[in-house]
Amino acid sequence: MAPEATLRAATADDAGEIAEVWFRGWRDGHLGLVPEELVRVRTEESFLPRAAERVGTTTIAVVDGAVAGFVTVVDDEVEQVFVSGEHRGTGVAGRLLAVAEEQVHANGHDRAWLAVVPGNARARAFYEREGWSDEGSFDYTADGPDGPIPVPCRRYVKPL
Ligand SMILES: CC(C)(COP(=O)(O)OP(=O)(O)OC[C@H]1O[C@@H](n2cnc3c(N)ncnc32)[C@H](O)[C@@H]1OP(=O)(O)O)[C@@H](O)C(=O)NCCC(=O)NCCS
Repeated sequence: MAPEATLRAATADDAGEIAEVWFRGWRDGHLGLVPEELVRVRTEESFLPRAAERVGTTTIAVVDGAVAGFVTVVDDEVEQVFVSGEHRGTGVAGRLLAVAEEQVHANGHDRAWLAVVPGNARARAFYEREGWSDEGSFDYTADGPDGPIPVPCRRYVKPL
């Protein structure tokens, strides 16, 4: 049986480990599925400052003293959901997503949304299993060092 994960608010000290989980997971979920322009700017080094900026709105799952996954919430958006390869399929992702949904609700919203790239079949199956529905296609505005980068995505929503 998989070891139990502890969920807690991230601190500045967690940013390095979050960035590692994020970089690897980002490649798993996006390579070949997003515009090359975005892949070029999502270098390994780019993840640490982005993780550090977000620690105040990030929840991590810790297993055996290491970061196994994290979620980041911005207002009514579940902005990031990432679990390291060895902890996928263990239930950690579902627990993180449930916390993110509670946070969106606590932010005063009765509906949460997130963006997922169309080809990310595992993430889409996961969200659908967790009660989210596909509301259609739109261009997500990803942040890049030289300005926004439009990324064709599906918008998923869940009433809370
Ligand atoms: C998305 C993510 C957080 C989901 O967590 P997880 O632990 O992998 O999720 P689960 O294993 O609980 O659920 C995944 C579901 O997809 C199914 N699945 C696995 N591979 C699949 C594939 N290639 N195509 C379709 N479904 C797939 C699984 O069988 C499971 O469904 P089930 O419970 O009905 O059997 C995790 O996979 C991850 O971090 N991926 C990389 C980063 C990423 O893409 N993040 C999301 C960005 S929007």
